[in-house]
Amino acid sequence: MGSPFRQIDPPQRLLMGPGPVNAHPRVLRAMSADLLGQFDPEFTAYMTEVMGLYRPIFGTANRWTFLVNGTARAGIEASLISLVAPGDRVLVLNFGRFGLLLTEILDRIGAVIETVNAPWGQTIAMEEVAAAIARFQPKVVASVHGDTSTTMAQPLEGLGALCHAAGAYSYVDATATIGGMEIAADRWGVDIVTGGLQKCLGGPSGSSPITVSDRAAEHIFSRRHTERGIRRSDLEQGEGQRISSNYFDLAMIMDYWSDKRLNHHTEATTMLYGARECACVVLEEGLEARYAAHAAAGRAVVAGVRAMGLQVFGDDRFRMTNVTGIHIPEGVNGETVRIRMREDFEIEIGTAFGPLQGKIWRIGAMGYNAAKHKVLITLGALEAVLRAEGFRLPAGAGVDAALEAYSA
Ligand SMILES: Cc1ncc(COP(=O)(O)O)c(C=O)c1O
Repeated sequence: MGSPFRQIDPPQRLLMGPGPVNAHPRVLRAMSADLLGQFDPEFTAYMTEVMGLYRPIFGTANRWTFLVNGTARAGIEASLISLVAPGDRVLVLNFGRFGLLLTEILDRIGAVIETVNAPWGQTIAMEEVAAAIARFQPKVVASVHGDTSTTMAQPLEGLGALCHAAGAYSYVDATATIGGMEIAADRWGVDIVTGGLQKCLGGPSGSSPITVSDRAAEHIFSRRHTERGIRRSDLEQGEGQRISSNYFDLAMIMDYWSDKRLNHHTEATTMLYGARECACVVLEEGLEARYAAHAAAGRAVVAGVRAMGLQVFGDDRFRMTNVTGIHIPEGVNGETVRIRMREDFEIEIGTAFGPLQGKIWRIGAMGYNAAKHKVLITLGALEAVLRAEGFRLPAGAGVDAALEAYSA
């Protein structure tokens, strides 16, 4: 133990798990910039820039595209608590841990919840969703896009049309895919989509980008009950039931991000700098190039681990491109492998939750780490560790196969 007053000096780990990943150095540099007051015109100009920068990343023209302060679940909770009142009927597409998180949050809100389920490792057919909507008549339909716990990406094409036809609002958690796989909020026709910085956007956790359609915003503003100390005559109060969280009240948060600049919270200045820089890096690289880089990294991981004689988890057709689940082979202790990866190679790979705990590892190649050399280094290290643990595998096969996948 050194002095408790020593400067923080973490080891230089390569974070190749399901997130967080290493932040892009540009993002870290932006986050060391000087602070500004929350109503400083320079700062509110950055806020407006952030709104514009995140629209293409969400695939939307939504006016209401902004940040919720807090980790990704802050965006999730703000969306659900602002859309859903106690007693409202909500249908959840549940195919992993984060689908269960949606039900957990909705349960606390007092929603009447119905789920349409797929076993971990699979996704849900849109026909099943259509049937569940027809049967249950929900007010809101909520889904995860990429569920990091199972590494599956739920196809969302057509979800918005089904919800519109049924008069329902829709919510999508895109935390694990935003910036790495296409998010098409407008084409999917969904009302609210939220994300986080710490995966494919290549930033630290602590800010949740969000986009809200006009029709969802109208519904949320119908629940506007502005905090008493900051009420103003230009903020008409709504008839709807008050949103039961102050911090996550999207009506007040949107009033802050609007030109009304309601004094709700003190925007997390440094996180906003970080979120802005993440978006700049993504857009400068180009969305298509970005998706292609994640897909190439994912293909290389899959080819590499298969060439080592390992089995990839889940349905190949619906795999997220940025996180890969790998069955821990018989006779190998998954945690010992993770510890050796960390201690000998300074590389973190992911463990798993729930029914997959102790059964799979998860290797992510996301954001700043969706890079060929980082994928190759990780596969080479995994191979060495597995061999040291007595698992027989063809020497060099993983890296060779990954290189081949990159050049294919
Ligand atoms: C799909 C998904 N949703 C939500 C979360 C929660 O994010 P946070 O831990 O930033 O609150 C995660 C984090 O891993 C995630 O992968």
